[in-house]
Parts: sequence; C-alpha cells; structure tokens
Amino acid sequence: MTASIASPERLRVGVIGFGWMGRVHARAYARLAQHYPTLAGAPELVAVADNASDDRLAAAAQAFGFRDVHADWRELVARDDIDVISVTGPNFIHRDVSVAVAEHGKHLWVEKPAGRNSAETRQIAAAVTAHGVQSAAGFNYRNAPAVERARQLIADGELGTIRQVRIRLLADYAAHPEGALTWRYQNEWSGSGVAGDLVSHGIDLARYVVGEVEQVFADTAIFIPTRPLPSGVATGHGSRGSGEHGPVENEDYLAVLLRFQDGARGVLESCRTAIGEQCNYGIEIHGDRGSLAWDFRRMGELQTSLGQGYENAFYRTEFVGVESGEFGHYQPAGAIAMSYDDLKVIEAGRLVRSILTGGPVGATIHDAVIAADLVDAMLESVETGTWTRTTG
Ligand SMILES: NC(=O)c1ccc[n+]([C@@H]2O[C@H](COP(=O)([O-])OP(=O)(O)OC[C@H]3O[C@@H](n4cnc5c(N)ncnc54)[C@H](O)[C@@H]3O)[C@@H](O)[C@H]2O)c1
Repeated sequence: MTASIASPERLRVGVIGFGWMGRVHARAYARLAQHYPTLAGAPELVAVADNASDDRLAAAAQAFGFRDVHADWRELVARDDIDVISVTGPNFIHRDVSVAVAEHGKHLWVEKPAGRNSAETRQIAAAVTAHGVQSAAGFNYRNAPAVERARQLIADGELGTIRQVRIRLLADYAAHPEGALTWRYQNEWSGSGVAGDLVSHGIDLARYVVGEVEQVFADTAIFIPTRPLPSGVATGHGSRGSGEHGPVENEDYLAVLLRFQDGARGVLESCRTAIGEQCNYGIEIHGDRGSLAWDFRRMGELQTSLGQGYENAFYRTEFVGVESGEFGHYQPAGAIAMSYDDLKVIEAGRLVRSILTGGPVGATIHDAVIAADLVDAMLESVETGTWTRTTG
C-alpha cells in the first residue's frame, strides 16, 4: 500500500497513546496553522487511541476536539480517513504500531526511542521505505533556533576545526528510591534505561550540530537496583509504588567517550537519578578558533566565544532571534522565550512539509536508526570493555 494522499487539503490526524507526549503532539498539530498560516495541509484531529482505564479519551475528545476515540490502536490504524499518525505510547508499542502505520499507507511521527533497539528501529525504517510514507522522529532539541544557529556557525567555519564536544543530559525523574517500577525500568518494555530515553536525544543533538560519531567507549551504572511495584495506573515519570520491590534492569547512568568521523573527541554523560537536576540538557563545543555552549533550560540563549585570541577569550550571551531557525514563527524578537511545546510545533511543521514535498524535512526514522545503532554500540561497549564502532 502507498501513501493515501500526496497533497491534501487538510491532513487528517490520529494519535496513539494519550499521555504527556500524545497531548503535546495533539497541541502541535492544532497550533500549526496559527504559526505557519501559509503552509498547506493544516492538520485536523480525527481520532485518538489509548488503552488506559481512566477518562483520558473523553478528555481528548472534549478538550482537544478529536472526533473519535478508540481503546484499541488497531482500529485507528485501519481507518481510511486518516493520513498521518503519531505514535506516542510507551516504547514497547512503538515498533508494532509504527510498522502497521506504514503498512496502512499513513505517514508516521514516532517518539524517541523509535524502537526498543536498533533491530526494531530498522524494522520501522524498512516499513516506512517500503510503503513510501514520510516520517518524523521526536528529536525535538535539534529544532531549537539556538541549536540551528550553533549548527550554522559551525558549518560556516566560525569555530574552526571542532576538537571537543561535551553533551550532558541530567535528570532527577528517577531519583526517588520509591519511584515505581514502571515499564521504563524493565528491558522487555523499554529496551534500555537512560540510553534510549535521554542519550538518544544527545546523540541526535551532537550529530545535527557537529557531525557523525563513529566509535564509542561507554560505562553504565544502576544506582537504585530495586523499586516498588506500581500501584494503579503508572503513567508519566512521577508514579509512586508501594510494598513489594522488583529489580531495575537498565542503566540509571551512562557515560561515553565519542570519536567523531571528522576527528573531534566527545564525552556524553546522562543520568536519571541526579538530585537537583531537572532537564539539565546541553552541549558545549570547542573548535580551534572559537567555542559555543547551549543549555536547554535557557533555550533562547547561545553562549559564544568567537573572533578573539587564543587565551583569555570570553563568552558572551546571544539572544537568538528571527534570523535563527524558525524563531520568527513564534516570537517577534530575541529574548522573548519560546517553549518546549514550540519545538514540537516545529517538528509537526517539518513533517507536514515532508508530506507535501515527498522528501524528508527534519529528523526522520532514518535519524532514529543512527541513534539506535549508537545506543546499541554503547551498550555493547559496556559488555566488551572496548571501543565499539557503529554498525551503520
Ligand atoms: N521527545 C521528548 O522529549 C519526549 C519526552 C517524553 C517522552 N517521550 C517519549 O514518548 C513516549 C511516551 O512517553 P510519555 O511520557 O508521553 O508517556 P505516558 O506514560 O505519559 O503516556 C503513554 C500513554 O500511552 C498509553 N498506552 C499504553 N499502552 C498503550 C496501548 N497498547 N495502546 C494505546 N495506548 C497505550 C498510556 O495509557 C498513556 O496514556 C515514550 O516513548 C517516551 O520515550 C519523548
């Protein structure tokens, strides 16, 4: 089966999994025409699927305006009045749902990590290619205008030859020892711990700004080895368990040395149990002529040290504005804050442009394959205690 439409009046949307990301995707589609009034194909929210036993489907219809709701995602995928589907359930449904989406000729927006490992992610990519649909992967940090500016500065040679790259993804969402043993901590359901959850974001950010990584040497740790079994619906990160404990199967912490194709060296550190750290995500890059640094928590700022001598050079703060990335679609001037949700509107817009043009715009399932290959290589490196090349 091939894509159901080439250049539709309105793209008809389905969303599968209506937790945090499902709502963020739904809002992104709904806001797209407001930020990009000349973009064709303004999305229309048609149907949502979720198997939770609470009232979230009713809320989806009432607050978001979805026409229909389904308890079984297969019913949604089989509809012939849907053009594009967001896969925003937990990791363990991504492969089966995404492959079915492509097989039914629908365009795909899948959250990271797309598959639980490289093999699953490649199955999704193969289905997307075989059925001629477009794809987007949820690597939202590359969409930040300051990240686009960083990428441009490097491409323009402003930093010279890149030598060092430091990436950090530190979080506290798993810091509480009584946090429930949800699917995130069990490999059968999640695939991996911070590797798929956060490190995949860091890989995409580094690749997008600096270039490809070809070798890795990694270390991991589980700091909280058991957690209480969940009581009731365990959604989002904050669920508390009670009573009996079960084993945490995947890494709370991952540190990795990186060798980039162009010779740069990198270090990436990620942790989900780091007390005091909320979304401490960022990248620092040093070249032989200058440096830059970006912190997600100050998303609209770029720290640059450019055009000075070798020693005693200082950083300055640039407030990125309408000249960077897609900033001008959100705010009229620099230092007026954009939001996390805005990055998802940008992602939705890039997917719609890829559907309208028939070619990739933004991060696709093929970027997710590269990230998954690198995650697998890191976990293999931990096992073997050696430098590991990616399979790509
Ligand atoms: N890009 C990002 O920055 C980002 C941020 C958070 C989460 N994520 C990813 O998004 C995905 C979802 O994360 P979340 O935080 O929204 O989780 P969540 O727990 O808030 O939501 C998941 C939803 O999927 C539903 N669900 C579970 N099994 C289902 C099934 N078989 N059929 C239909 N619905 C089902 C649950 O009921 C829940 O509503 C994960 O893969 C996660 O890694 C990405």
